[in-house]
Amino acid sequence: MAWLFLAQLLIQILRIHAKVPAIIVFGDSSVDSGNNNQVQTILKSNFEPYGRDFNGGQPTGRFSNGRLPPDFISEAFGVKPVVPAYLDPTYHITDFATGVCFASAGTGYDNATSNVLSVIPFWKELEYYKEYQKQLRDYLGHQKANEVLSESLYLISLGTNDFLENYYLLPGRRLKFSVEEYQSFLVGIAGNFITELFQLGARKISLGGLPPMGCLPLERTTNILSGRDCVEKYNIVAWDFNGKLQELVMKLKNELSGIRLVLTNPFDILLEIIQSPHSFGFEEAAVACCATGVVEMGYMCNKFNPLTCADADKYVFWDAFHPTEKTNRIIADHVVKHSLAEFI
Ligand SMILES: *[C@@H]1O[C@H](CO)[C@@H](O)[C@H](O)[C@H]1NC(C)=O
Repeated sequence: MAWLFLAQLLIQILRIHAKVPAIIVFGDSSVDSGNNNQVQTILKSNFEPYGRDFNGGQPTGRFSNGRLPPDFISEAFGVKPVVPAYLDPTYHITDFATGVCFASAGTGYDNATSNVLSVIPFWKELEYYKEYQKQLRDYLGHQKANEVLSESLYLISLGTNDFLENYYLLPGRRLKFSVEEYQSFLVGIAGNFITELFQLGARKISLGGLPPMGCLPLERTTNILSGRDCVEKYNIVAWDFNGKLQELVMKLKNELSGIRLVLTNPFDILLEIIQSPHSFGFEEAAVACCATGVVEMGYMCNKFNPLTCADADKYVFWDAFHPTEKTNRIIADHVVKHSLAEFI
């Protein structure tokens, strides 16, 4: 007990002296807090029942019933409980100075992935970030802005769509690359992105690994003949990809002096939740809460479907492709303790 108390006290003290002034987010729907609301795409979630448990019920454009991992991470760092979307016109640089999200649901490392659903390409997220740097310097002055930019925590989370929405769904990339070659192609893009981000002044960077994407309810549905098992092949691809990301992290740490880069890997914890949902307080891991839970996401997950579950906290997944808020919170707590603690 005394131990626990001391540990909590220590965390409080560290929080007060927090050295992370803002959380800055790049990626896909795993972290998009509403940018797609402002984009001409069919991939949206700014309607009910999305956001059902967000601050009393608010469809923000997050692909969940509530908050996403970056929101919980921001809160854990003592910054603020939600990270606003850069394209949301109700927010301004006064809000973005303590956190901003450039992510876009449906995007990937590969330009061809963002083309599939006409969402924001990954390279464009960095262009928005450059624009943001200018606004921050106008707002805070050069010196203070540069301090904020170098002390902030940068979260990068994407890659699932490159495989599930692109490589395994459309023929183009498969004709050109073996899956190993495609993984290396994506890792190369990740490396260039992080190098450029570093050159622009970022120092504390978390590169997100892939989840066990063969266990997303939508993928399990393709395995209907084997009793909706996880698709082992996709889990192996994700696992291998995470290994390559870890190698990239080691390489960049050697090359870029002063970078503080970590791999934040949700794979093990999410697989553990899926394999023993009851020990985390869940009742269902194979089927999602929204609608039938086997295929629906985006516009197919809407308030007219009477099958949507009553209590999302009993479900690991909210829609057929995205976790519930409860799962997001567990993942965020886990990565804060295991990967991001050094930045607190
Ligand atoms: C993606 O598209 C942008 C803009 O056209 C281009 O600058 C970039 O080189 C492309 N990335 C790759 C890996 O082809």
